[in-house]
Amino acid sequence: MSYLSEDLRQKILAYLPRYPSKQAVTLPALHLVQDELRCVPRQAIVEIADLLDLSPAEVHDTMTFYGFFREEEKPLGRTRLWVCRSLACALRGGEELLSDVCQKLNVKPGGTSADGKITVEFAECIGGCEGAPCVLINDEHRMNVTPDKVEGLLADLRQ
Ligand code: FES
Repeated sequence: MSYLSEDLRQKILAYLPRYPSKQAVTLPALHLVQDELRCVPRQAIVEIADLLDLSPAEVHDTMTFYGFFREEEKPLGRTRLWVCRSLACALRGGEELLSDVCQKLNVKPGGTSADGKITVEFAECIGGCEGAPCVLINDEHRMNVTPDKVEGLLADLRQ
């Protein structure tokens, strides 16, 4: 079984002209795979390596250098919810926000809700200090996530 669809393979190959080497496409390829599959399965590592003329170990090294990528045993939920716990957010309730979200979803940071819809992560500054406390919903900022907004936020993400 091939993990990489033809569409995904073509998207990875489309990066090649934009980078100085095939190896430099490793990181964007990992992002594409994780965005689609919600993890980077071992077989996908082999297939990325094959596409980029690398060894699977080289791709795996890049993948594991960053804490961002998930192995197939621990896939992401549909939404990755990052809760900032750096200084500006911490001063405005970021730690409590993280605890509240985890409690409501019955997970620890890094965990995924039982319905597979939301993975909660803590983040260091995500560049929205002026709207502290804030979160990232996949790639989108949500500012001023005060305690009264948590239920509504989670309800939206569960839909
Ligand atoms: S400290 Fe939370 S966004 Fe900067």
